Amino acid sequence: MNIVILLGAPGSGKGTVAGALAAAHDNLKHVSSGDLLRGAVAKGTEAGKQAKSYMESGNLVPDALIATMIKDVVAETTGDVTMLLDGFPRNLAQAEILAEMGTPVKSAVLIDVPDEIIQDRIAGRRTCPKCKAGYHVRNLPPKVEGVCDVCGEKLVVRKDDNPETVKDRLVVYHQQTEPLIAYYKDKGLLRTVDGTTGVENVAAAFLAAM
Ligand code: AP5
Repeated sequence: MNIVILLGAPGSGKGTVAGALAAAHDNLKHVSSGDLLRGAVAKGTEAGKQAKSYMESGNLVPDALIATMIKDVVAETTGDVTMLLDGFPRNLAQAEILAEMGTPVKSAVLIDVPDEIIQDRIAGRRTCPKCKAGYHVRNLPPKVEGVCDVCGEKLVVRKDDNPETVKDRLVVYHQQTEPLIAYYKDKGLLRTVDGTTGVENVAAAFLAAM
């Protein structure tokens, strides 16, 4: 098993790209820290109860909380698999935790999207609470408005997808997550793709880069 890290601002398309690639390639596994945390919140686990208020305000949850979840998923993943790790690490301390886990990091691919585009992307995002498929009301609409193409569930707007929280999430991204770009560049692992060119193009560029 090895790991490809997805880097990029909230709403840059990390989940969309990783989901599309994992659906098309048996040896790619999409692991989203946000989905793990939202799952824990929905189930009402102790970790979910701790994470809820951080997530709703757009802040990062404590490193140890998310690191435990990621370690569990890494431990249960075996064989000839590349894990597309979406949302972890989110700061330099988490990058060190990942390095200590010992699973080789093949590359860290930055999906580059300017902040001006992010607000529109997130304002139009709709997600399936059941199968986690993601949509956009204009860029990637479902076949039937408000209904998931994959499983038929009613689509929802995420609680942290309001304009005020998105602003806070961008501040957190620039302060805490952006330093990872230099961190992985120094290790010779950084690749960058233009995230503004449409979902299929970005997915193809990502696959070539990783
Ligand atoms: P998380 O779920 O990871 O959210 P995020 O990083 O803010 O990323 P998003 O899911 O918002 O965006 P995305 O890049 O996946 O974009 P998407 O593909 O949906 O984290 C949520 C919270 O959990 C955090 O705020 C934090 O509290 C906590 N957390 C998570 N990980 C943590 C960690 N490691 N440490 C501490 N706390 C952590 O695309 C967005 C929209 O754009 C969609 O509507 C999509 O259809 C559309 N779109 C995508 N690509 C394109 C394209 N190329 N062209 C046009 N439209 C596109």
